[in-house]
Amino acid sequence: MKVADPQFDYLCGLLRRRTGVCIDQTKQYLVVARLMPIVRQRKIPSLETLIDRVRQGLDPSLEKDVLCAMMTHETSFFRDRKPFDSLREVIAELVQRRAAERQLTLWSAACSTGQEPFSIAMVLLEHFRDLVATWRIRVIATDFSEPILEKAREGVYSDLEINRGLSPALLKKYFRTLQGRHSIVQECRHLVEFRSMNLNGTWPLMPMVDVVFLRNVMLYFDVPTRSALVGRVRRVLRPDGALYLGGAETMIGIDDGWDRVVHGGCSHYRPKPRR
Ligand SMILES: C[S@@+](CC[C@H](N)C(=O)[O-])C[C@H]1O[C@@H](n2cnc3c(N)ncnc32)[C@H](O)[C@@H]1O
Repeated sequence: MKVADPQFDYLCGLLRRRTGVCIDQTKQYLVVARLMPIVRQRKIPSLETLIDRVRQGLDPSLEKDVLCAMMTHETSFFRDRKPFDSLREVIAELVQRRAAERQLTLWSAACSTGQEPFSIAMVLLEHFRDLVATWRIRVIATDFSEPILEKAREGVYSDLEINRGLSPALLKKYFRTLQGRHSIVQECRHLVEFRSMNLNGTWPLMPMVDVVFLRNVMLYFDVPTRSALVGRVRRVLRPDGALYLGGAETMIGIDDGWDRVVHGGCSHYRPKPRR
């Protein structure tokens, strides 16, 4: 099934204006497939009628559902593995420098269904358990998409989701399994605070953070949007903090105010000292 080009262009323009996410005509079939469940759920006569209703702007929840459906939420536990090994080393260094204040804040800035922040929480529990017990340690996890955040808050995963990246040892330790569904344990869940946030909108009040995972989201934004975003991230990241991007993302051509730090085959970025 296809929609008329002007209607599809309207949706792409709306998505871009509201969230910064850019998609083009090549994604038309994918988008249509993702929008059809909304048509059925809401008993709307056709896809064209759905788009007309979004255009009328009378139902903000419909617009949000449509925008969420147009985005990619692909994720997995310990995605690409190496950033999480590197994170362990970065935290070990930060622990030395934060000994007086005894607090650490980590931010998973486009957390999708929760695998990324829960992987961070597992790194903390596996390697810094004493710290978790005695310091104020928080993992803030944000995403634009409310239905996706709802799933993240539940912390319940299928075999398929678990088999993408989670070792049997960590499964046993940090999940309770019932009828083929795997529920994250409370000690891990308690470390993570999920919040709704549009990276390209008005931000809720953010604390200063020590580590940011901004992974596999900037690649959907155009260059000016990426530049503006990393500028805003810099303002909430502590000067000696670490910013992780996705494997296909780079700071080259985006913002030269960052040093690339390489840790065992994986790089992250640290703000260059201001002169
Ligand atoms: C491909 S997933 C990446 C998830 C995770 N960071 C990872 O690397 O596995 C991209 C996520 O970015 C979110 N997203 C896209 N645009 C956003 C925006 N403007 N503000 C906040 N989240 C956004 C989507 O909802 C989606 O869950």
